[in-house]
Amino acid sequence: CLQVATNVTEQKHHVSRAKRGQILGHKRGFRGCTVWFTGLSGAGKTSIAFQLEEYLVAQGIPAYGLDGDNMRTGLNKDLGFTKQDREENIRRVAEVAKLFADAGQVCLCSFVSPFSEDRDVARRIHRESDLPFFEVFIDTPLKVCEKRDTKGLYHKARQGMIKGFTGIDQPYEKPENPELVVKTVDSTVHESTMQVVELLEENGVIP
Ligand code: PPS
Ligand code: MG
Repeated sequence: CLQVATNVTEQKHHVSRAKRGQILGHKRGFRGCTVWFTGLSGAGKTSIAFQLEEYLVAQGIPAYGLDGDNMRTGLNKDLGFTKQDREENIRRVAEVAKLFADAGQVCLCSFVSPFSEDRDVARRIHRESDLPFFEVFIDTPLKVCEKRDTKGLYHKARQGMIKGFTGIDQPYEKPENPELVVKTVDSTVHESTMQVVELLEENGVIP
């Protein structure tokens, strides 16, 4: 059991968000926020998030993608895929995303994040710091994800070689009130990405 930190006091930065916004990117103004992509393995989270990252950076808007597969080889390499470990994975990543957003980045998070309460934690962490948070449900049916099976993981899960695989022997709780639902069946990655671009335009993140 971990000893929790005591005797810690919040230390305030001297740099305001407005000041940060003045020197960030070609499009002046503070645009820090987090776009949270959730969905089954193989739904298209990484493809859309990374295409959006490319689009934003090309527009002169600082953006950075945090991806499940990548975070799990570094910061979160001590975590597996139990409900408890996924909860800790999402909590840590949400705290990191908050820092990226506070630093003025459009932070693009692509995590299965199958449990509603964990996604709610991520949202609350942002709300408490007054940072916009957009939950985007990449709504691709299990059948389609399993047919794509881009990494061969569904095959392994069906064979019993992976335990606790989302959609097979662990649940995926669909978002109840996401800011956006993107259906990827019969759309290109570009078309799906542009739906998220539209959301960010409507909310003033993209001018
Ligand atoms: S979570 O649920 O948010 O903590 O998962 P995440 O950090 O996004 O990691 C998901 C990626 O890990 C691979 N993988 C698994 N996914 C789901 N369930 C199990 N058991 C599992 N084991 C490994 C897989 O590559 C996931 O990436 P995506 O891009 O979603 O396919
Ligand atoms: Mg991925």
